[in-house]
Amino acid sequence: MTTDTITTRDTQIFDLIAKEQHRQESGIELIASENFVSPAVMEAAGSVLTNKYAEGLPGKRYYGGCEVVDQIEQLAIDRAKELFGATWVNVQPHSGANANTAVFLACLKPGDTILGFDLSHGGHLTHGSPVNISGKYFRPTFYGVERETGVINYDVVEETAKRERPKLLICGASAYSRDWDYARLRDIADSIGALLLADVSHPAGLIAKGLLNDPLAHAHIVTTTTHKTLRGSRGGIIMMRNDFENPFGIKTQKGETRLMSSLLDSGVFPGTQGGPLEHIIAAKAVGFGEALTDDFYDYAVQVKANAQAMATAFLNRGYKIISDGTDNHLMLIDLRSKGGTASRLTGKLAENTLIKADITINKNMVPFDDKSPMVTSGMRVGTAAMTTRGLKESDMEQIAVYIDKVLMNHDNETVLLSVKEEINEWMKAFPLYKG
Ligand SMILES: Cc1ncc(COP(=O)(O)O)c(C=O)c1O
Repeated sequence: MTTDTITTRDTQIFDLIAKEQHRQESGIELIASENFVSPAVMEAAGSVLTNKYAEGLPGKRYYGGCEVVDQIEQLAIDRAKELFGATWVNVQPHSGANANTAVFLACLKPGDTILGFDLSHGGHLTHGSPVNISGKYFRPTFYGVERETGVINYDVVEETAKRERPKLLICGASAYSRDWDYARLRDIADSIGALLLADVSHPAGLIAKGLLNDPLAHAHIVTTTTHKTLRGSRGGIIMMRNDFENPFGIKTQKGETRLMSSLLDSGVFPGTQGGPLEHIIAAKAVGFGEALTDDFYDYAVQVKANAQAMATAFLNRGYKIISDGTDNHLMLIDLRSKGGTASRLTGKLAENTLIKADITINKNMVPFDDKSPMVTSGMRVGTAAMTTRGLKESDMEQIAVYIDKVLMNHDNETVLLSVKEEINEWMKAFPLYKG
């Protein structure tokens, strides 16, 4: 059985993959958590490594035949260490959610208090939402942004931390456009004897290139996805700059205090996962290798410049951006800011209308939203994917023009179709996967 025969047999799936490739190539992708990986990352992800079981860690496996995957996983670890200035990394989490769950298992007992950034203000489900294990098995408490500024007030975080006394203070977000004060958060965590977890899933690529504050300098533990601004294979990793003795008094069989790295490794396997996905780990390693290059620095600088250009373009058209701008690759737009026809605009309507013009965004709650998560008043947009395609600042202006045109004419199918045609034509100039 060759791969060719499989391909010809399963036309259903491969035709659909071809359709999805066409969709990605012909439209404008603004979902802030998405990006386009290189052919090399895809090649590694689709390799024979998918056939290999390798429970355990490099050099300490429960299966034979791991000599090659050991080298691959070690390379992934070493490259991630170099990229982020970490001394310890676990590259096995299948996703960002898994990375966070493994940290919780390592640091907490059921019922312990955690303090995270409110989901409805831009936080993430895995930081204490009642529908996620983090909110079901632990006692979640939250801090948010200020209503007037849209920015986190660290004095309020401190007050909340002193009141709620979490064991784990979590920072990081899926829709917050400002940088984080990790030093201040570490002071807050230290003042109550908590551990600080920074989940940098979104801005990781910008952090790796020194374009945002360094979380590893302050947080005890850092998690990230590998597929957003980092532009690697889908997945998660856990990192520390400095390992330390676990503060929970957990001992080894020899009676020595276990290091945090050992608890985190166990939190991943066997705590929350089985065999690592070595094909994905290889793809992560390829992505880290790419992120270590100077080209990736130029990319990250352009991502930020593009986000700033896009924010300015929206502000100039009367759109309200939460916190009035962005430090990273994304922004959250409050659609209630637009009057006239658009006053009926919701995140849901924006998402459903923009897709008709082949512009992909996602609806998003804005802080203090009066609408449900299925409707929302906001939309989130990010520049990581379109920057990969080669778009620059002036193109961001053009995208804002198109978005504004679509939203202001959301019930005019003729306008939507003409914008779609223009976009499809425009995107031909930015081929995604040549050949
Ligand atoms: C801050 C943050 N943490 C964790 C995750 C979860 O990542 P994954 O979808 O890989 O589980 C995301 C994904 O959007 C995220 O934004």
